[in-house]
Amino acid sequence: MRQAGRYLPEYRAIRQKVDFLTLCKTPELAAEVTLQPVDILGVDAAILFADILLPLEAMGAELQFVKGDGPTFPSPVRTREDIARLREPNVDETLGYVFDAMRLVRRELDGRVPVLGFGGTPWTLAAYLVEGGGSKHFEHLLAWSYGDPEGLSVLLDRVADVSIAYLLGQIAAGAQALQLFDTWGGLLDLDRWRIVALPPLRKIVDALKGKVPLIYYINGGTHLLPALAELPVDVLSVDWRLPLSEVRRRLGDGAPKILQGNLDPAALLAPIPEIERRTAAVIEQGRGGGHIVNLGHGILPMVPVENAKAFVEAVKRTAI
Ligand code: CP3
Repeated sequence: MRQAGRYLPEYRAIRQKVDFLTLCKTPELAAEVTLQPVDILGVDAAILFADILLPLEAMGAELQFVKGDGPTFPSPVRTREDIARLREPNVDETLGYVFDAMRLVRRELDGRVPVLGFGGTPWTLAAYLVEGGGSKHFEHLLAWSYGDPEGLSVLLDRVADVSIAYLLGQIAAGAQALQLFDTWGGLLDLDRWRIVALPPLRKIVDALKGKVPLIYYINGGTHLLPALAELPVDVLSVDWRLPLSEVRRRLGDGAPKILQGNLDPAALLAPIPEIERRTAAVIEQGRGGGHIVNLGHGILPMVPVENAKAFVEAVKRTAI
């Protein structure tokens, strides 16, 4: 889950000087903010500072981060003609800054903790690219998925190919595990997720399988667990809406997955004794298989740093 970000004064100090995309594209600064949560919170792994949307920019889609609005694509991709205008980027030329940041982080960490790389799933990346940014109902995306599913799958396949090159580049630069974010996978019902979202995701998983451990994150998608039980990833990461014990039960015996999660990110806004109580509950519910303790989604900007620290310390006290 997101480790760096606006809840950290040290991150905000850097963001006062540079905008978000410049931060992503300046390897020395990206490496610095990657290390902040490791030094300040004492987490057991670093997450490279970047964004899932960067490969879409590399494909030629103009990307802006407008203050308060989050990411926007001023020229969304909504037709087959729009797809044809996208580029097939050389990732070393267009995304080399991410690989440089990864190399710097590995060097600066010097084995202290492992570094995770990441990317979005094609469905989740397309959600932003087709909609032109975040959205409440994702109507353009969903209309396309019903009106011309083959056309949309051309886009998803193009995004999958770029993602494979991008993620292999992260591994070559030193990523020791990769997380795939499917933040909007849960928009689809089980059958449509299998038909629309799974094929390009499988393409990525099959290309990366066995190279480094793969973590797949789904948000709002516990109805997809029957399909996820068959996804050949090493770790399944879930949001906070179901206890991990129930997630494990629904996955069934045939899925020897390590689970990651799943404290409600809003629980970090609670008083510290309540954070400790809820963290202990998450650890308890995670028993019965491998468990990477984490939040169920990205950390919220309002979270006091002391609360984030209390979470990490509570895990370290109880987990082993
Ligand atoms: O240490 C880390 O946290 C790693 C970096 C990281 C970022 N984004 C940096 C970031 C990671 C892993 C992501 C993933 C990401 N980006 C996802 C998938 C996970 C999720 O949150 O569901 C998505 C959907 C995005 C796209 C994105 N980037 C959105 C929707 C936003 C706006 C969010 C908001 O809080 O307003 C971003 C911006 C972003 N990416 C920030 C950070 C630290 C905040 C930017 C800022 O400094 O203003």
